[in-house]
Amino acid sequence: MKHTDIKEVLTNKELIGQEVTVCGWVRTSRNSKNVAFIELNDGTSLKNVQIVVDKSGDPDYKDIPRVGTSLRVTGKAVEGRSAAEIGVTPADITVLGECPQDYPLQKKGHTLEFLRTMPHLRGRTNTFNAVLRVRSVLAQALHNYFRERNYVYVNTPLITGSDCEGAGEMFQVTTIGYSQDYKSEEEYYAADFFGKRAGLSVSGQLEGEMAAMAMGKIYTFGPSFRAENSNTPKHLAEFWHIEPEVAFAELPDVIEIAEDMIKHVIRTVLDTCPDEMAFFDAHFEKGLIARLEELISHDFGIVSYTEAIELLKNSGEKFVYPVEWGCDLQTEHERYIAEKVFKKAVFVTDYPKEIKSFYMKQNPDGKTVAAVDLLVPGVGEIIGGSEREYDYDKLITAMKERNMNLDLYSDYLDLRKYGSVPHGGFGLGFERLVMYVTGVQNIRDVILFPRTVGSIR
Ligand code: 4AD
Repeated sequence: MKHTDIKEVLTNKELIGQEVTVCGWVRTSRNSKNVAFIELNDGTSLKNVQIVVDKSGDPDYKDIPRVGTSLRVTGKAVEGRSAAEIGVTPADITVLGECPQDYPLQKKGHTLEFLRTMPHLRGRTNTFNAVLRVRSVLAQALHNYFRERNYVYVNTPLITGSDCEGAGEMFQVTTIGYSQDYKSEEEYYAADFFGKRAGLSVSGQLEGEMAAMAMGKIYTFGPSFRAENSNTPKHLAEFWHIEPEVAFAELPDVIEIAEDMIKHVIRTVLDTCPDEMAFFDAHFEKGLIARLEELISHDFGIVSYTEAIELLKNSGEKFVYPVEWGCDLQTEHERYIAEKVFKKAVFVTDYPKEIKSFYMKQNPDGKTVAAVDLLVPGVGEIIGGSEREYDYDKLITAMKERNMNLDLYSDYLDLRKYGSVPHGGFGLGFERLVMYVTGVQNIRDVILFPRTVGSIR
């Protein structure tokens, strides 16, 4: 259907005075004696175009399209009070799809909780219009960031036989149900589709490392799955994961890449999405734009885990989870460090080896690993990464300490036999980045179809 994007009509001055055809959904409509006004949105812009219907030649025209109706409209683009408008007569309006009175988005101002009950329609609200565009711009900015720096984009498998994080959070992939007829778990898995246990990948890192050992600098951008029973505002069962992996990179290099990448994509969103960012600043977090400008114009903080524990212990705060060296940092701790101590994004490095994954490079102190998490105010952790253990014997020892089945990781171990090099990378949770950039506080509201524990449709 030949038509012009509403964004074009609103921004391209050359269209003024010309006849244009636009399509979209009615956001509001208002009727008066000689003229009717329809606000039309097609998703290409946060702003609507105003259709001004001249009824003078058709005074009986009463069927002003209801909110939600889809239309095709042809008329002259004219300069309006603040933006271009389209002047039409009733004959220039074609109704593509009627929208009855029970349309749930009839009125404005629904809560985010209410909108979650209608993922198929909530894209038509201003909030989701803005979220989905910022998401899209962020994704493209990430791809551009890596492409411009000679990274190769690789696709790693979603179905996997090995557990990257080893935290028991894998969804199982199976075509047969377990039955008592199997004498053992092994027999059951052997009878299953792949002939062994398979699951949905929690991370593309292990395969990403394999690609990086050939292509030098790679990144993945795809879904990861976590069967964590975490019903929180920042956990999804299916989230989008960006994982760069870089050969010849040590922990300081990994930190530098993460900071540079975050600054680059935030700059891009601020420059590309001024309307959307102004909307979030007005409706979700006052001062959001100033906060992001501030963030990208200063160095991020950096603190070791051991120093962070001291800061938390000396804070005088009452935390729900007690703080001791060796404990995992909870969201309340992460937010205290980022929001109260540093008041900005901060890298926490060198965590105790017991609370981190087997693949992380062991530090000379024998107690910590070269890990790094990036914590940001308002959200907590958005990035987790490390330098990888590239010494074959040390890696085997760490895996044995965790009772891991080495057979499942033979390809991964081979990398340490054939031309092993120092390397590292990180994982960025895409939805957490979107939360941080938009000020939206629940992860269910930055992805159109969230999958969380106990909830799918
Ligand atoms: O810290 P994580 O578990 O690290 C890894 O998966 C590494 N293999 C990454 C790497 O080094 N290549 O996860 C990385 C990031 C977290 O910082 C968080 O932003 C996001 O993934 N994440 C989640 N986001 C939404 N819902 C969940 N359940 C998430 N779990 C992790």
